[in-house]
Amino acid sequence: MAKDTETEWDKIEEVKNDEKVGKEVNLRGWVYRERSTAKVAFITLRDSTGIIQCVFKEDSPGFREASNTKIESSISIKGKVEKDDRAPGGYEIKGKEISHYQKSEKFPITQDPSTEFLMDARHLWLRSSKIRKVLRTREKVLEYFREFFKEKNFHEVQPPLITQAGVEGGSTLFDFEYFDETAYLTQSSQLYLEAFITSLENVYCIAPSFRAEKSRTSKHLTEYWHLEAEMAWYENQDNIEFQEEMISYVANKLGEENQKVLKDFGRDPEVLKRIEPPFKRLSYTEAIEELQEQGLKIEWGEDFGAGHEKALTENEKEPIVIYNFPKKIKPFYMPEAEKSEEEETVLCNDILAPEGYGEIIGGSERIWELEELMKRLEETGTDKEAYEWYIDLRRYGSVPHSGFGLGIERTLSWLFKRDHIRETIGFPRTINRVYP
Ligand code: 4AD
Ligand code: MG
Repeated sequence: MAKDTETEWDKIEEVKNDEKVGKEVNLRGWVYRERSTAKVAFITLRDSTGIIQCVFKEDSPGFREASNTKIESSISIKGKVEKDDRAPGGYEIKGKEISHYQKSEKFPITQDPSTEFLMDARHLWLRSSKIRKVLRTREKVLEYFREFFKEKNFHEVQPPLITQAGVEGGSTLFDFEYFDETAYLTQSSQLYLEAFITSLENVYCIAPSFRAEKSRTSKHLTEYWHLEAEMAWYENQDNIEFQEEMISYVANKLGEENQKVLKDFGRDPEVLKRIEPPFKRLSYTEAIEELQEQGLKIEWGEDFGAGHEKALTENEKEPIVIYNFPKKIKPFYMPEAEKSEEEETVLCNDILAPEGYGEIIGGSERIWELEELMKRLEETGTDKEAYEWYIDLRRYGSVPHSGFGLGIERTLSWLFKRDHIRETIGFPRTINRVYP
């Protein structure tokens, strides 16, 4: 078909409207379903806003072409809007003309495909109604997060993704040749946000983070979207309260404004609407005791595995906070807590999503005094060269500060009640998948 630059195009959702009834409209999109007999052809047309049934009767000029289309062909249709209570959505198009941009080959995604096949065909599967719902609701959630930060007067910034300083330990760094040096894909934008606060005080970013995770689990991606915030003058307690308020805001708003789609996901919107701060808070030590009481194998000083997080959250309806983890399992930038406990802990917290979902946030107060930072870099055997600029921040007007990082896809897994993290993002990247 020739490119058409004259036509005024309508959107499907907008033509499903009493004011449009009897009017001629021009629609374009993809064939969602088709069925024809000798006398009539039905095409369900899909665009980014919705679907609508178009009916071509035998006497319509487009009848032959309409009878000859295939699923997922790209087409345009001219026709009249009619109200019809039997039609899905209450309106349909009485088709007059139809033309193909491209007639699709036999669409490879059919009934009951395997998960592996669907992952290989992800570029085609994106148009399924299931993924479309996820993509649109994901977009909403990101909107709510941004809204929250705007209300709190935070500045959104864009840190670099190519770095030379690891944040969360060497084992999950992706390194690559950067001309004649080695560089990494960032694991977290935290260190750069710590620089941004000396300019803008309260900042956040939504950016990819990369982890060379060797784990094949339902919650690990190698490339994920990371919402990180950093706040000047905040102490650990302020940090935790902020996270609780943020999660509650987003969950409430999602529950209030997206009831239908949440129900399609199997998520009761009421559960999200009821989430409110403060959350249940446990110290790491209390969490260990609880796990031991439940009969799980874990000793003080060990990090939680998926099983432990599951046990801690399975019967919860709201997220929980776990604070003050042992120093030896946390990175160099976390300050020591008051030594009230027999072993050394640091001022930090995780937030675990309920119903067994587990960790969605990691955050902490940051060491802001030069001497203390130098000592921790020393203790953790960190090569200081790449961190010179970060150390500098403690030399020129350092201030107390805190921050956190939230994994977008893990949060969506919980909010959308998904079984696997790959269901929350368009093109998931995992240990065994970089295609398509
Ligand atoms: O707990 P993490 O490693 O903390 C940090 O990176 C801090 N520097 C953040 C900060 O304070 N600015 O990661 C934060 C969150 C986790 O709680 C989890 O939700 C998510 O990032 N995350 C992952 N999500 C998907 N796939 C992975 N492989 C992830 N690793 C971490
Ligand atoms: Mg963590």
